Amino acid sequence: MKSEQAIKSKLEEILGLKPGAAELETPPDKAMGDYAFPCFKLAKQFRKAPNLIAAELAEKLSESGLSAQAAGGYVNFRLDRTAFAKDVLEAYEQAGASYGASSEGQGRAVCVDYSSINIAKPFHIGHFRTTVIGHSLCRIYAKLGYKPVGINHLGDYGTQFGKLIVAYKRYGDRDAIEQNPMIELMKIYVRFHEEAEKDKSLEDEAREWFRKIEDGDEEAQSLFEWFKDMTLREVKRVYDDLDIEFDYYTGESFYNDKMAPVIGELREKGLLELNDGASVVDLAEYNMPPCLILKADGASLYATRDLAAAIYRKETFDFAKSLYVVAYQQDLHFKQVFKVLELIGREWAKDMEHVSFGMVSLEDAALSTRKGNVVLLVDVMKKAVEKAMAIIEEKSPGLADKETAARRVGVGALVFDTLSSNRIKDISFSWDRALNFDGETGPYCQYTHARACSVLAKAEWFPNRNAAFDKRADCHPPLHESPNNTVGADGNLPVKTDIGDNLSDDEAFELLRLIEEFPGAIKEAARKNEPFIITRFALDIAKAFNKFYYEHRIMDDDESIRTARLRLTAATRGVLAEALRLIGLYAPEKM
Ligand code: ARG
Repeated sequence: MKSEQAIKSKLEEILGLKPGAAELETPPDKAMGDYAFPCFKLAKQFRKAPNLIAAELAEKLSESGLSAQAAGGYVNFRLDRTAFAKDVLEAYEQAGASYGASSEGQGRAVCVDYSSINIAKPFHIGHFRTTVIGHSLCRIYAKLGYKPVGINHLGDYGTQFGKLIVAYKRYGDRDAIEQNPMIELMKIYVRFHEEAEKDKSLEDEAREWFRKIEDGDEEAQSLFEWFKDMTLREVKRVYDDLDIEFDYYTGESFYNDKMAPVIGELREKGLLELNDGASVVDLAEYNMPPCLILKADGASLYATRDLAAAIYRKETFDFAKSLYVVAYQQDLHFKQVFKVLELIGREWAKDMEHVSFGMVSLEDAALSTRKGNVVLLVDVMKKAVEKAMAIIEEKSPGLADKETAARRVGVGALVFDTLSSNRIKDISFSWDRALNFDGETGPYCQYTHARACSVLAKAEWFPNRNAAFDKRADCHPPLHESPNNTVGADGNLPVKTDIGDNLSDDEAFELLRLIEEFPGAIKEAARKNEPFIITRFALDIAKAFNKFYYEHRIMDDDESIRTARLRLTAATRGVLAEALRLIGLYAPEKM
């Protein structure tokens, strides 16, 4: 029996369980076996003591050729490690960089609404989390044969832009704003509110300017476009560092002319009710407050735009799934929107999912540049890169192109840290933790990758790699490249040698086991929309490689041992690089 999956399937067959129901554990002591199946939960169903169930199961399993042994309430399994090693390595080598890829998605679209920043507001650390989760999901879905559609649903509509125009006309200094747009715009916006306390007419003026934006007035439009350009210019610096490209920057205002049909449909179907002059969809039956569709003055709302956007996305991309990577504060909003779509008979509402996440706080805020009480992401990133640079200067002063390395390590540390826990958990960010090269961090994984590269380089296992590989060795392919992209593929394929028992030790076995698990981990990450599963996988395989590296001499004098270990090192490197790519990190060859 060669794989965990094969054991599970056999168990499910014998026990009459549905696929995926049998779960295996790892025995505390490897001497007992490679996997264990606990029978305790079955006792009730079969009205039998767990040890009796285990004994019977072990017998049946042995009959079908498995190495299975009962021990108390467990059945322990032992894999044929020689055959397992051969299978796993060959599967990896055959697939190369497409190892773990699948055609499950059949090219169907998965809309990923993420980052979705607000115009004229600073990109703060909270928006970072949606940005990195969404980006990772795009890469994960692409790997599974879907076509991710990255959408930045800009917050570019609302009376605040009227206020901003008034503020700019009264207190703005064009040059100062050009110099430092987000901070300066925020300053004048705050000033507007202070002044409006004293002078109520400012609010009317702001409303008037907002109406002018809507009516397409030239001056209003051009000021608004200027705010938008400056905001996008600033956030694009962040996206560049993260290697992110959106397919669409379609903001809320894009739906200005697309809401009428859905409002009409709601009215036709008798779902719109008047509530204090506002038009709402009553959701009391579903234990939710009403969903606001139109204000008393006829103005549309955030939800109205999301209804129009959902329908637009379905009509435009015919998505298999439509995801919204937005903080948990908007849980209710998305529940309402999905419910309203269901009520107007959009059966595809079931394919929409709010990928919710918890809060981000900055543990040592004092370390970050604080201007006007917001922690700007550009500053956080700059700081991360500086710190990474200091570490690199100390650890590898001779490294070529330290700048690039520092950017990849520093930014990677932030990304990895952000994806290091279940997305629903609140997290607090700490520099010391994120940039620790020995802790459970991005730099640790990147460093491990570089270590594997250096072993392979010493063995001259990269000698024939072509120029394309050189360019890509530490570089991500663009987002929408086919899942069969060649990143991580080793330039020269390793010689097919007989592995024999050379990889049967516990450390090699652990690595092989992880390599075998990788495709399943990618699928699970997509099923749960949880990049953290890949982050944890990257850490596990990095740790397992380091253990292997310290316990065994890869460059053994015996050629067959050396070759087997190098093949395992090459496969590990490829899988680790791909795992890192899936969460949005570069895997540097040298560090
Ligand atoms: N701009 C919003 C915010 O910063 C997030 C928008 C999320 N996407 C959506 N389709 N509602 O809170």
